[in-house]
Amino acid sequence: MAALEVCGITKRFGSLVAVDQASFAVEAGRITGFIGPNGAGKTTTMRIAATLDLPDEGDVLLDGVSVLDDPRGARRKLGFMPDAYGAYPSTTLWEYLDFYARAYDLHGALRRRRVEEVLEFTSLSALREKEMAVLSKGLKQRLCLAKTLLHDPSVLILDEPAAGLDPRARVELRELVRALAGMRKAILVSSHILTELAEMCDGIAVIEAGRIKATGSVHDVTRGIQTAVPVFVRVLEDADRLERALLELPGVERARREGQGLVFEHQGSPESLAGVLAALVAAGLRPVEFTPRAMGLEEVFLSLTEGKLQ
Ligand SMILES: Nc1ncnc2c1ncn2[C@@H]1O[C@H](COP(=O)(O)OP(=O)(O)O)[C@@H](O)[C@H]1O
Ligand SMILES: [Mg+2]
Repeated sequence: MAALEVCGITKRFGSLVAVDQASFAVEAGRITGFIGPNGAGKTTTMRIAATLDLPDEGDVLLDGVSVLDDPRGARRKLGFMPDAYGAYPSTTLWEYLDFYARAYDLHGALRRRRVEEVLEFTSLSALREKEMAVLSKGLKQRLCLAKTLLHDPSVLILDEPAAGLDPRARVELRELVRALAGMRKAILVSSHILTELAEMCDGIAVIEAGRIKATGSVHDVTRGIQTAVPVFVRVLEDADRLERALLELPGVERARREGQGLVFEHQGSPESLAGVLAALVAAGLRPVEFTPRAMGLEEVFLSLTEGKLQ
């Protein structure tokens, strides 16, 4: 059983179907990127999983606990970091965390220990007596993450945590999220910017216009896409000759000049691609480079979504 299971949820706002029968799961110790353009339904899905809104259909299970049947039980399993949260300028970091620790029913020595632990984990211990007003965006984000960890939840839902962070703060956030996955937490992280998630995630769920378009490891999602793979090739001979030879071969769709060589689009099996290389050699050309380009997350995303806005 996955730690986070989104089971066929649908959410309507009037005539708008914000989330349309969305299903996916996140296992303990895994980080799943929830990717989709603005308005795709990420926040709505996350808010339902966090018991802050009710679905019209479907359910979400947190460690097997239904958000509909037992929302209080589900909340104990869950740490939710919303995309926008209140800041209390004249509150110290300690006071802020202590307040939320009380809200989670933590008492006495245990409460002090938990506040110290989450400050330590997010490297904020030295700032405990500072007021929130002095914090940079990156530090506020870390404080908010610290808050979501107070009750040691097994599932973390982070809505656009990297938005607006500078590169260093993003790297620090990524390291923290990775460390949390190492503690066997199931983590769902949303973004509309793929490069924010690319190095952080074990898997992705792509959403567009309320529908889940693909789920799985980046590798599986990429493999499932039937699009041509760009291949860079350079030969010792003339590029015009190369282009003429290439365009006659099966599986080769287009070719364009790039630097000293050509990039052609190949559609077909690895065997067919090997056949292209063999045919070039048989035609008297001498390839010195022949490099299929792996599809990055950006390409996966673009080929799965059509840029539909709601
Ligand atoms: N409370 C609401 N009332 C009406 N429409 C809403 C509400 N919340 C979200 N929506 C709409 O639902 C769609 C999905 O929004 P959201 O889940 O915030 O997308 P995302 O987080 O992927 O950008 C959008 O079209 C948005 O305008
Ligand atoms: Mg959102």
